[in-house]
Amino acid sequence: MEIKIAVLPGDGIGPEIIEQGLKVIKTVCTRFGHNLKYREGLVGAAAIDAAGHPYPEETHQLCMESDAVFFGAIGDPKYDNNPAASVRPEQGLLQMRKSLGLYANIRPVATFPSLVHTSPLRTELVEGADFICIRELTGGLYFGRPQGRSEDGNTAYDTCIYTREEIERILRLAYRYAGARRNKLTVVDKANVLATSRLWRQVAQEIAGEYPKVETEFMFVDNAAMRIIQWPKSFDVIVTENMFGDILTDEASVITGSLGMLPSASIGLHTSVFEPIHGSYPQAAGKNIANPIATILSAALMFEYAFELQREAAAIRNAVASALANGIVTEDISASGSKACKTTEVGDFINEVINC
Ligand code: IPM
Ligand code: MN
Repeated sequence: MEIKIAVLPGDGIGPEIIEQGLKVIKTVCTRFGHNLKYREGLVGAAAIDAAGHPYPEETHQLCMESDAVFFGAIGDPKYDNNPAASVRPEQGLLQMRKSLGLYANIRPVATFPSLVHTSPLRTELVEGADFICIRELTGGLYFGRPQGRSEDGNTAYDTCIYTREEIERILRLAYRYAGARRNKLTVVDKANVLATSRLWRQVAQEIAGEYPKVETEFMFVDNAAMRIIQWPKSFDVIVTENMFGDILTDEASVITGSLGMLPSASIGLHTSVFEPIHGSYPQAAGKNIANPIATILSAALMFEYAFELQREAAAIRNAVASALANGIVTEDISASGSKACKTTEVGDFINEVINC
């Protein structure tokens, strides 16, 4: 079939990890007889420099015309700690999510048997952990208005807003996921303090009866932060608002051994976006040391979600498992005493396994 995708490398390590991911996508397409058509677009700091905007209209058109977006990372330290910067690279990512209507961010957290020893958590706690975090992606503090500063600059404010419709559509999606898995949904909120959280809880209670097979559990976010690393195996599907989901999934990556391992799929009204959950890791940019696996696993999610091609996704996952089992890994997950591989070496190995 035709695989028509937009490729947005972005900033920092983005171009390096996307190069490895794209290599894998090309190999999968050749091996399974698909016709790959891709075009690259600008986003983030790279787009500000070249086009004066972090998500240029041209990039948006490209995304809208594609069947999936393969995205690297965004962010550049020259904009951090710079309150005067009027435009930030991250705005490009947020605008892309909003304009494409990507209200759900699916972040699967699963351990690889050959990696359990690299997690700082005890093996018996993380072995077999397998849950999905569904993060609401176009509401809450990230998008609520007003946001800004008082005239004298001494007061700043953000607004957390959620409507019933926004809450209901993400909860229903989460119930469907839980129903297709182990029938347990954990709704994470801060209902003891926040009005938005109380609305989340109310809507969840109202619709829970429509999913009788699924057990609904409510958990405060502070408690969830503890439970995720204390007893990760107790979760099946977690659903939560935008900011809580952002924080909890970085934390959850510790279970798998590295932030460089977690892929994600952002889905909603228009073209879906597939991207690693990690950022642009500027300290590593250009050094060929970044872990490309989160990006390569995002390509697997892309074949599965955007094109319903399960065998292609499985081929990628098996090749990743083989790299891990053979110790062909970057420094973030290499065993102490053994030599770490470069980004390109990991990509090449995975590519070869898919090819044979
Ligand atoms: C993520 C990132 C982004 C977010 C940043 C880069 C704006 O941390 O995708 O998790 O906070 O959503
Ligand atoms: Mn994040």
